Amino acid sequence: MPSNSLKWQIALGLGAAGAVGLAYWYMRTSKNRSLEKVQESARITSEEISETPFDEAQRYKSEGNELFKRGKYDEAISSYNKAIEIIPEEYKNDLATYYQNRAAAYEQLKKWSSVISDCTKAIELNNRYEKALYRRARAEEMTKDWVNALDDVTSVCLLQNFGNQNALLMADRVLKELGKKNAAEAIKNRQPIIPSKNFIKTYFSSFSEDRVYKNLLETTDPLGQGDLKGFLKAKLAFATEKFEEVITACTEELNLSESESSYKMEALSLRASFYFLTGQFKEALEDLTTIIETKDADPLIQVNALIKRASIYMQTEKLQECLDDFESAAKIGPNVSDVFHHRGQVKLLMDKTDEARSDFQKAVELNPNFSVAVVQKCYSDYRQAMQTQDVSMLMQSMQDFRKAIEKFPNCPETYILFAQVKTEKQEFQEAEELYQKALKIDPVNASIYVHRGLLLLQWKGEIEKAVEIMREAVKIDDKSEFAYETLGTVEVQRGNLVLAIELFNKAIALARSEMEMVHLFSLRDAAASQLKIASRLGVGPDLLKGVS
Ligand SMILES: *[C@@H]1O[C@H](CO)[C@@H](O)[C@H](O)[C@H]1NC(C)=O
Ligand SMILES: *[C@@H]1O[C@H](CO)[C@@H](O)[C@H](O)[C@H]1NC(C)=O
Ligand SMILES: *[C@@H]1O[C@H](CO)[C@@H](O)[C@H](O)[C@H]1NC(C)=O
Ligand SMILES: *[C@@H]1O[C@H](CO)[C@@H](O)[C@H](O)[C@H]1NC(C)=O
Repeated sequence: MPSNSLKWQIALGLGAAGAVGLAYWYMRTSKNRSLEKVQESARITSEEISETPFDEAQRYKSEGNELFKRGKYDEAISSYNKAIEIIPEEYKNDLATYYQNRAAAYEQLKKWSSVISDCTKAIELNNRYEKALYRRARAEEMTKDWVNALDDVTSVCLLQNFGNQNALLMADRVLKELGKKNAAEAIKNRQPIIPSKNFIKTYFSSFSEDRVYKNLLETTDPLGQGDLKGFLKAKLAFATEKFEEVITACTEELNLSESESSYKMEALSLRASFYFLTGQFKEALEDLTTIIETKDADPLIQVNALIKRASIYMQTEKLQECLDDFESAAKIGPNVSDVFHHRGQVKLLMDKTDEARSDFQKAVELNPNFSVAVVQKCYSDYRQAMQTQDVSMLMQSMQDFRKAIEKFPNCPETYILFAQVKTEKQEFQEAEELYQKALKIDPVNASIYVHRGLLLLQWKGEIEKAVEIMREAVKIDDKSEFAYETLGTVEVQRGNLVLAIELFNKAIALARSEMEMVHLFSLRDAAASQLKIASRLGVGPDLLKGVS
């Protein structure tokens, strides 16, 4: 999966695509501007004899500018006041400049509402006034008016062909703040959604020693005979893929008295997993904590609960708590491969490749038959080799990938990760073949289609074909957040902003963590603001399409 920063680059790719459409319009405005300058100088030379109101206003403006330079902002404001009062109506652009200059003085005095109202007047006179737009954006950022700050900084980015680095950084900051605000709201009204069957299956099979999952797969219990209740009912629901019934059935088990119930820990663990899978992190944390704090609980179930709680902490940006849980898990279960496999993944996300490698190494030693850990080890070795430019380690990791494929020919992860490595090395043909093999084993995995689409984009730049493949992903799994998000990003790149917004909204509805939501809202709001501003500035979304 591409990292967040990579997705951002794709989204900002609009800068490159949109720039072409904007170029014509940009040339036109700059020509007009130089014409105005000629006219202005002509005016000044022919009217030197007696001071007209315009001259007087200009004089006050210059005076204001001088005072501004000397740091006398209040005095500067008085001069600009006079200039604004005197100047005849027809000098619209000059009046706009005066307002803009006065706003600059207010900005120095941190009088944000005055900055905003003066910039607004300047912009009403000249809606493409970059300096005024940028200044207003900054004042809006100071007053946490994120929506308007975003629109204004978007205007600046569009007008300057995405060439202003500071404006881009500001857009990024504002989008993040707005995303946080929107996500906090959305999470309150969020309806739990059960992910696709494939997703649930992949989640459970990422643990090799989950006692509860093993129990779920055993069929020695008299399932389907008589009236099942509690955990056994949950087990039947799981086996028959009626996932929406699992949580209630587990609750039923937990409601039973001690003497009636023999599956309390199992019910807690299973319920926690489903709370997690449906994005109900708070509830999941409570159940996992109960397991962890139960003195005589099965140590293997406790280790598993610690790993699962660590992963929730990771997704809610509580890194220290996450690492502490892994530490406790390693103490209770020093021989449990899962602890090290899952911690290795966290270390990879943290860019601690070296520590990730030793964790994966340990996971593989403890359980050489656990395919997912083996292939993750290959992948972290590859990362380390690239970072340290170690050629022999690189060769070794390639060989290990091939061995992993031989040993686990039915594990889709092996092919998918190796394909990602091949894509990075620009060995596109091999990557495509690996994805094809993964699809043979796991034909209903939407992510593989998305990866193939991304590969086509990078390999051949075939955007139509890539979109077609990614639409397949949505067809086979209409709950694939990754597919909606990636499609949305590609549509942004093509200038199809309306469609992109719709796709991002679908992804948002499926997002399970607040962190994911913040990111998705940022993508959506960037697209929405660009759409709005393009039409406000008369650039037109069709012009924004560029030449992809
Ligand atoms: C697809 O497969 C990959 C690798 O096995 C897995 O990580 C991912 O969760 C799967 N995605 C879905 C939607 O099933
Ligand atoms: C469990 O008990 C609570 C409180 O007594 C009750 O509200 C709830 O309906 C019960 N749930 C199930 C599934 O038995
Ligand atoms: C871990 O495995 C080793 C070797 O198999 C064994 O000696 C040790 O007792 C195990 N430790 C625990 C805590 O299970
Ligand atoms: C791994 O799998 C092989 C073949 O299925 C088996 O012979 C071996 O005992 C397994 N090793 C471990 C450590 O489970």
